[in-house]
Amino acid sequence: MMTLRDIHTPVLLDRCVELLAPALQEPGAVLVDATLGMGGHSEAFLERMPHIRLIGLDRDTQALAIAKERLAPYADRVTFVHTVYDHIGEYAQGASAVLFDLGVSSLQLDEAERGFAYSKDAPLDMRMDQNEGITAAEVIASYPEGELRRIFERYGEEKLSARYARFIVERRDEAPILRSSDLVNIVTEATPAAVQRAGHPAKRVFQALRIEVNNELKVLAAAIPAAMGVLRVGGRIAVESYQSLEDRIVKRAFAAASSSTAPAGLPVELPEHAPTFRMLTRGAELADESERAKNPRAIPVRLRAAEKVRATNGQGATS
Ligand SMILES: C[S@@+](CC[C@H](N)C(=O)[O-])C[C@H]1O[C@@H](n2cnc3c(N)ncnc32)[C@H](O)[C@@H]1O
Repeated sequence: MMTLRDIHTPVLLDRCVELLAPALQEPGAVLVDATLGMGGHSEAFLERMPHIRLIGLDRDTQALAIAKERLAPYADRVTFVHTVYDHIGEYAQGASAVLFDLGVSSLQLDEAERGFAYSKDAPLDMRMDQNEGITAAEVIASYPEGELRRIFERYGEEKLSARYARFIVERRDEAPILRSSDLVNIVTEATPAAVQRAGHPAKRVFQALRIEVNNELKVLAAAIPAAMGVLRVGGRIAVESYQSLEDRIVKRAFAAASSSTAPAGLPVELPEHAPTFRMLTRGAELADESERAKNPRAIPVRLRAAEKVRATNGQGATS
């Protein structure tokens, strides 16, 4: 019988374990998996480190239910939390390690009914938490043309944003745009034949809508510093991003924390100006050829990791 382990392979799993393991040596050390998903990464940590405890966060109740089943053998060491990850500070003060594996899960993409995939016809929903927030269909129906253009530009880095926004606004006056196939047809029709596209013409529009519906970048920009804040000194954070907008947020947060804040020209660096983190990765690490060949999800991944070397504002003191 096929198990979840066969179907779903976590991206850069061994490297994530290697980067975080030095912070997880103490009995009872706490790992926070901020994006539990189907629990693939978490399962490996729990299996390889019988002495650790795990706090798993996810905003998707369906993902939590699957992870709960998968991690049942370790239930006494796991706490599941249904939340958006920028609330990490409420659940994980003094954690030893935090892992973020960003983006949508294969579960969310494969479940046609969730409306994430442009290749599958479904209601345009795209909410990771189906209990709250507005759907992609509501965004498409209600945002002014300029706002749609801005979203496609900013979150999709889409060159034809203005054209797509105009077509959508024209078409929605004729008939409501409720399904992914309606949107795919409009975007395809709006794409001039002469324009060479890398990938499907609707790819960037769908990415942009998903980011808007789930407020992904704002939440991430708050969550990374919050996660760095909960770590004890010596604690480690690893983040896997799948598109440049996410990776930029992570890169900037890590760069700021691993640089001295001493004003230029000061002859000696005061202790309070010293960096609070040190980088564990040089630039962003990528998956190697063999992993990319086996797992297409690994192709765009960018992994960055850092270690807390000094307490910040009374937070993250050694536990
Ligand atoms: C790529 S999957 C994680 C897969 C997991 N590492 C595994 O091996 O099974 C990302 C998960 O993060 C969740 N997620 C995305 N944004 C979130 C947020 N802002 N707060 C909480 N969970 C979030 C998604 O619902 C999804 O289940």
